[in-house]
Amino acid sequence: MTRAAVILAAGMGTRMKSATPKVLHAVAGYPILGHVIKAVRAAGCARIVVVTSSDGAAVRDFARLVDVGSVVQDKQLGTGHAAAAAGAALEDFAGDVVICYGDMPLMQASTIARSFEARGVASLSIVAFRSESTAYGRVILDKADGLLDRIVEYRDADEEERRIDLCNAGILCADARSFFRWAGGLKNDNAQREYYLTDVPLLAKKEGQRTAVVVADEREMRGVNSRLELAEAEAAMQQRLRRAALESGVGMLAPETVYLSHDTVLEPDCQVGPYVMFAPGVTVKSGAEIKAFSHLEGAVVETGAVVGPYARLRPGSLIGESAHIGNFVEVKKSRIGKGSKANHLAYLGDAEVGAGANIGAGTITCNYDGFDKHETRIGAGAFIGSDTALVAPVTVGDGAYVGAGSVVTKDVAADALAVTRAEQREVQGWAAKFRARKKAVKGKI
Ligand code: UD1
Ligand code: CA
Repeated sequence: MTRAAVILAAGMGTRMKSATPKVLHAVAGYPILGHVIKAVRAAGCARIVVVTSSDGAAVRDFARLVDVGSVVQDKQLGTGHAAAAAGAALEDFAGDVVICYGDMPLMQASTIARSFEARGVASLSIVAFRSESTAYGRVILDKADGLLDRIVEYRDADEEERRIDLCNAGILCADARSFFRWAGGLKNDNAQREYYLTDVPLLAKKEGQRTAVVVADEREMRGVNSRLELAEAEAAMQQRLRRAALESGVGMLAPETVYLSHDTVLEPDCQVGPYVMFAPGVTVKSGAEIKAFSHLEGAVVETGAVVGPYARLRPGSLIGESAHIGNFVEVKKSRIGKGSKANHLAYLGDAEVGAGANIGAGTITCNYDGFDKHETRIGAGAFIGSDTALVAPVTVGDGAYVGAGSVVTKDVAADALAVTRAEQREVQGWAAKFRARKKAVKGKI
């Protein structure tokens, strides 16, 4: 059976107090909505439609970016109304549809998959979890068969219903054709004057169609409505990512201090020190080590390489096998060859460094002239003396030496020595005379 998903994301998100739409705030370096899309995709949803508000252009742009459709819900008249708004976009779709919210970054693909599978038991399914929070609608089961009797919004519930701790997560699965027919027939005769998605099972029941209830972990079902909840979701996601990394064989001395992104790839048996930050797009291969306080983004670290402590890898960096990038070294859009070393205090930007090169402390690639970026090429086995400025575009040939303190503006031939510093002059006895003169003057005062 083909599967589709409708993701509701037209809410205002005013409690975030942000110009950025709520669902575009990042968790583990990726928009909340992106996590939801990934989850429904992994659960087999080939067609995905995001419901946005009329001012949700940024949300629609994101949807387009990740190849999913979007529709506009003109007025926010409730969750049922929002889901119905996706009907036209799925008019040609015959299969099962899951409705879920765009603000639940922790929702797992396995839970969505379970809700689809529960439709073997009943025509529809919803996901519920245990909580005493007053923020959620209550799920009331039919005592006779354990299927859903009804969902009552907390506001509309009576005392006895409010005492029930089974809560509605907001995820609903049904046959798409029937679902949109029911959604189109919803009424808004409730406390909030809204069209409730939660009334769909009632309409189905009138046609003899029942709803199964899948129970999931509360932590997974948490929505993000405020900065505090965003920080809590981030913490929970970090915990999940760290645990997965450890379980897959990554060594971490202090995992609670390591920050990972949704797409961080840490191969088994790589080692990560304390306080390392992985921004998006990083791969660390088996046998590589990232030492404490390093910041990596958009970089690949090959096996046997050592990065840090206190290193920064920026997008487009490739640290070759067994290469060393040491403390206070920044690498941007550069390839560092096998076994090469830049152990201290250097900037390598738009550079290509061959194998076995040595980059001395204080080496800077001067890659930017205020308008354009230029490339530096450093050949295999080259030795760049400390405090060298390489004014790009420039090439240092294989095996060449550059003397410390040089400003290299012209290409250096393979195996040559380039030195541009002024020659050293020595004045014998100068210091002793200088000191004597100074002391004599001070003595007079
Ligand atoms: C809803 C459920 C409640 C459940 C809770 C779980 C209903 C009637 N109630 O309540 O049973 O326990 O979620 O969090 O469904 N949205 C739109 N358009 C709208 C209204 C909402 O797109 O017109 C989107 C929002 O962006 C949000 C989601 O739907 O992502 C949920 O809406 P919200 O108003 O927060 O629902 P609750 O009142 O919390
Ligand atoms: Ca509401």
